[in-house]
Amino acid sequence: MVGIGTFNIGSTKEVQSAIESALEVGYRHIDTAQRYGSEEGIGAALKASGIKREEVFITTKLLPRFANEKDAPKAFEDSLKRLQSDFVDLFLLHWDVNDTYGAWRAMSRLHKEGKTRALGVCNFSADRLVDFCLNNEIKPAINQVEFSPLYQRSDLQKVMQEYGVKLVSWSSFGRGRTGLAGGVLDNPTLAKIAKKHNKSIAQIVLRWLIEQDIIVLPKTTKKERMVENISIFDFALDSDDKAQIAKLNKGKSLFFDPQDAKRIEWLNSDEYNIMPS
Ligand SMILES: NC(=O)c1ccc[n+]([C@@H]2O[C@H](COP(=O)([O-])OP(=O)(O)OC[C@H]3O[C@@H](n4cnc5c(N)ncnc54)[C@H](OP(=O)(O)O)[C@@H]3O)[C@@H](O)[C@H]2O)c1
Repeated sequence: MVGIGTFNIGSTKEVQSAIESALEVGYRHIDTAQRYGSEEGIGAALKASGIKREEVFITTKLLPRFANEKDAPKAFEDSLKRLQSDFVDLFLLHWDVNDTYGAWRAMSRLHKEGKTRALGVCNFSADRLVDFCLNNEIKPAINQVEFSPLYQRSDLQKVMQEYGVKLVSWSSFGRGRTGLAGGVLDNPTLAKIAKKHNKSIAQIVLRWLIEQDIIVLPKTTKKERMVENISIFDFALDSDDKAQIAKLNKGKSLFFDPQDAKRIEWLNSDEYNIMPS
């Protein structure tokens, strides 16, 4: 239920060091992507830890540029090399762009060959997800989407439950941005609830998500925060807490407008599609 996020950590050495710490304090679920440049550091950390590959759940994601039937298999094999592994646990389409159906056919073959234990998508809206489920033999096991107390997506959640697709939350902390109490981690309501339970705001947010059966991927490079973010199994939110958190929903992404055509151009651009080294 709690994995470690690896977006924007830094160099391979920095990723390796962060993931070694995460493994040391008990994380056994790691989220990466071809886009993050963190696969190599994760592979190195796992090797250095001596922990068996089978004991760790690793997710990676296909870069939009490679999201087509021809390029997806090679891109996947390159990920395996960087991860020093012969399989991944979960392979995702990173965005709903490019030839997602063609890529999915190639990903389905990789799944049948046992090279990825499960398949899923990211950032699919409810309508696109339903179409994808209806028109593919293998349905996505999960949809990884932005979800936080400030962006609660109950309509999407409902459709996903109906189709048996699990929700994974990214940027549960709104990427840690704060200022004028406009972020997740400086929200006054969450601060009050945190004080009541003698927990941090981060722990309240993660607890609120897992209580809804939502998988979480908090990103941090700091060992004490890694421990904090997995120490969420010894308390529960009550109905009053949940009612207050429900009121925090602003109903829109903290990062982008999904209708913005410029964003689709950007996701297809050279700038976004940095080749992992
Ligand atoms: N599928 C997708 O399209 C997609 C998109 C975005 C993200 N993701 C995945 O989701 C993961 C998480 O999302 P995210 O990285 O955007 O942001 P996030 O987890 O919401 O927030 C990370 C920020 O919160 C800070 N933080 C972490 N734990 C904290 C704590 N206990 N107290 C105070 N601050 C804390 C971190 O700072 P420090 O590092 O300094 O501690 C960092 O600045 C990513 O790393 C990535 O794996 C997926």
